[in-house]
Amino acid sequence: MSAPLIGYADRFSVQAGEKIAFKISSAGPGPFRASLVRIVRGDPHPDGPPQKLDDLSDVFDGVYPSRPQHAWPGSYGLVEAARDLKPLQALAVEALIWPTLPTDGPQTVISRRDPQSGAGFALVLTPEGMALEVGGARICVGKALRERVWYRVWASADPATGMLRVGQQPLKRAYAADDEGEAGIAAPAPLALDAARPILIAAEEAKDRPAQRCFNGKIEAPAIAGIAAWDFARRMSGLAIEDAGPNGLHGKLVNLPTRAMKGAAWTGAERDWKQAPHHYAAIHFHDDDLHDCGWQDDFTFTIPKDLRSGVYGMSLACGTQRDVIPFFVRPALGRPTAKVCYLASTFTYQVYGNFSRGMFDASFRRRVAEWKAYPHNPDDHGDYGLSTYNHHRDGSGVAYASWLRPLLTWRPDYMSFDDPLGSGLRHLPADTHLTGWLDRMGIAFDVVTDHDLDREGQALLASYKLVLTGSHPEYHTEATLDALQGYTESGGRLAYLGGNGFYWRVARSADVPGAIEVRRTEGGIRTWAAEPGEYYHAFDGAYGGLWRRSDRAPNRLCGIGFSSQGTFVGNTYRQTAAAHDNHHAWIFDGVKEELFGGYGYSGGGAAGFELDRLDHRLGSPLNTVVIASSEGHKRENFVVVHEERLGFTTTIPGETLEQLIRADMTYLEKPAGGAVFSVGSITYCGSLPWNKYDNDVSRLTFNVVNKLGELGARWPF
Ligand SMILES: [Fe+2]
Repeated sequence: MSAPLIGYADRFSVQAGEKIAFKISSAGPGPFRASLVRIVRGDPHPDGPPQKLDDLSDVFDGVYPSRPQHAWPGSYGLVEAARDLKPLQALAVEALIWPTLPTDGPQTVISRRDPQSGAGFALVLTPEGMALEVGGARICVGKALRERVWYRVWASADPATGMLRVGQQPLKRAYAADDEGEAGIAAPAPLALDAARPILIAAEEAKDRPAQRCFNGKIEAPAIAGIAAWDFARRMSGLAIEDAGPNGLHGKLVNLPTRAMKGAAWTGAERDWKQAPHHYAAIHFHDDDLHDCGWQDDFTFTIPKDLRSGVYGMSLACGTQRDVIPFFVRPALGRPTAKVCYLASTFTYQVYGNFSRGMFDASFRRRVAEWKAYPHNPDDHGDYGLSTYNHHRDGSGVAYASWLRPLLTWRPDYMSFDDPLGSGLRHLPADTHLTGWLDRMGIAFDVVTDHDLDREGQALLASYKLVLTGSHPEYHTEATLDALQGYTESGGRLAYLGGNGFYWRVARSADVPGAIEVRRTEGGIRTWAAEPGEYYHAFDGAYGGLWRRSDRAPNRLCGIGFSSQGTFVGNTYRQTAAAHDNHHAWIFDGVKEELFGGYGYSGGGAAGFELDRLDHRLGSPLNTVVIASSEGHKRENFVVVHEERLGFTTTIPGETLEQLIRADMTYLEKPAGGAVFSVGSITYCGSLPWNKYDNDVSRLTFNVVNKLGELGARWPF
């Protein structure tokens, strides 16, 4: 289902002088209006401080004609060069396939076919087994293939005799399975075998869209005798597919199927595709993959020189329809405009983009409508692709996320949960609890994104006194971790204002614009599990999964790391004795309660949902000081992370499960005046706006930001 008014931008981080292009689908009626806003506060909760999107229509404002633009999920290989082949005299085609939805409707393994006339061929997986279609003729084996089993499949067509043949054979036979065979037919002449069209792998051309009959499952080594033999073990990090045959019919992948996948030759002896590429010569295609919607630009905006760094949005309106497409304006490199830098967790936003949680029920819809929050939910919009928290339709995990498509979750007032105790915000909207607080406190800040930090490294942060994270900086590359570690060890200060941060490893690829990769390996709190042997990223060849599996537990950077996950409910922190010592008392200056934070717009409390704790074994520096710990979590509502569990009640740290369900708020000094303050809870920032920003969580945060940022500011209440 398409949304009536929606869009995306070609980039989301820009600096003065750069141009950002917006791609809009609008069903009308009439033209739509686009105007610039600054996103200060997105929370639509009727009892909280009001939403604040500052009108900057004096900077950008325009009216543009409406037109619908469509997203077409489904991945495949496209070999355009096949248009120019000399006419086919006969056909012999084969491939190895590992179907994941063999009982679904027809799914094409390889084709070259004119979508108008039907001329040409398609080798097709059907519920009745493999079929060959040539022009209007068809032959099918008549035996279903099993799911997740490797088969050799083949077909031939000979216009001279009219013979069509198609066959299938499992590479390993199974007792009592009747799934191999071959069928032939003499089709009436003439056989329309040739079509001067591209070859498609895992799909075929369609009249009204880029492709149809997309395949679900793995394909390896498709080949057409005398014409082409594609070797998917080559150039595995990108979108190119190489033909090892005589005609050099190289192609490209559309919609980002998963590469570096175990192939038919995999034995378990080697688990790194770089060491044995031909054990990883398969590509996993899905009919719900989506990379780049490829929409046309509707307008562009060149960032004026005097537009300050911040979180912005392009606000769209057409009739009663509204949308806001967020983007970030960063300062020019080496030209900071504030002492404080807010690091927007754009890797995490992207990885969660379009997370369909299956929770958009009647009561949630009612609340969204009553609060006039963002109305569209990924549960209703599979056409804009999935998140890496979802499974593909065939049950495999989604390993890639792209921002070259509408991202419904990436809206200032998008609600993730029907949260009875708060607003149920996550990610960008939840992080406006922080930007709204900075605005109310009058604290100037620059914004940079994970993507900027990955590209520019530590230099991007060097001149800031203090870097702030949002509520959930979970996903990082080696470059972003290096930058933050280097920054804090050379005098920089970091306030980690979230939970479950710095947890998973992600990869980018210069060859795959707009996309990010994650492999959910080994363990960790996760919604799907990578298959054994598929733990190395295709994009960069690195071992994926939790950073702690690559000797970089979050504790090393910020003193704490992920310990437990629960329902979206927040509790309180209790100050420790260290909170009162001479060295740390400044943090709690003006904080009224020993037990504080039992309020807020995320789960109703500052310590909740995902909690981090100190653990020297995992790398928490010895001088990390716990200044508060959370309490009151209900054991039945929380699970200790799998990576700390050994048995029914036993744990790696040796503490009880109950003891491991806590957030530790820590303060850690680093060389040259560097410091890290960590709160270890996803719901923390949700407490900042409580009581119009006048509360203990707000005060404590103010003390930290004021001192570490060297602001000399005054508490405003
Ligand atoms: Fe997360």
